[in-house]
Amino acid sequence: MNTKTTVTGVNNYDQQLSEAEINRKAHRGKVGGFWEVLGQLQFDFMLEHGLKPKHRLLDIGCGCLRGGVKFIPYLDAANYYGIDINESLLTAAAQEIEQANLQAKKPNLLLNSGFEFNQFGVKFDFMISVSVFTHLSTNIILRCLARVAENLTSSGKYFSTFFISEKSLELKPINHQPGSITTHYDQDPFHYSFEEISDMASKCGLLATLIGEWDHPRAQQMVLFTLPE
Ligand SMILES: C[S@@+](CC[C@H](N)C(=O)[O-])C[C@H]1O[C@@H](n2cnc3c(N)ncnc32)[C@H](O)[C@@H]1O
Repeated sequence: MNTKTTVTGVNNYDQQLSEAEINRKAHRGKVGGFWEVLGQLQFDFMLEHGLKPKHRLLDIGCGCLRGGVKFIPYLDAANYYGIDINESLLTAAAQEIEQANLQAKKPNLLLNSGFEFNQFGVKFDFMISVSVFTHLSTNIILRCLARVAENLTSSGKYFSTFFISEKSLELKPINHQPGSITTHYDQDPFHYSFEEISDMASKCGLLATLIGEWDHPRAQQMVLFTLPE
């Protein structure tokens, strides 16, 4: 049976950057820009929420390491794990690692479209995904959360950003401030109510806790997923 997962047409991350685009750092724009601001913001947030160098961190939809270039130097060697669906962004990630002289920290990067975190062969103390659920439909988020539940340590924490709607089944577009991003019920970029996120978590055996605002320049909210005690 073919169990390979392909994700096409949901967002534009099925399109690859050329070598020339990577050389002129177009990858930093493809993941949303704000390279320095959003790298530092996610790093500071994770430290405030308990990330220590000894922890194993999984960066889901790590892209070209906007957060990774901050996490890798801080974590003990080999404790950073990044997974992404887009091969060209992982090529750009390798370039970012080399240019920042971070090879000695031995980051682990995996090209994968099915959230198969078990391929790393370890459990994770912390997981993060920044600007990933914002580009994913419900079934894909459910696949991600199902895999999260299998690969988190019993006291592990998974933080993810999303665009929030006040009510469930919000079929009308929403314009979010700051940033002026317009989100949709069933097209990229997507919005979800906290109730919808919470229902998805509970289907996958996880508990969702709304953190909410965390100073994101485009008004993405933060949610925490944990395993029940
Ligand atoms: C807006 S970028 C954010 C990247 C990174 N988290 C950051 O903060 O720079 C969204 C990322 O999610 C990745 N992505 C989308 N669908 C995915 C999937 N099914 N599995 C893994 N990564 C995915 C994209 O390729 C892209 O790198």
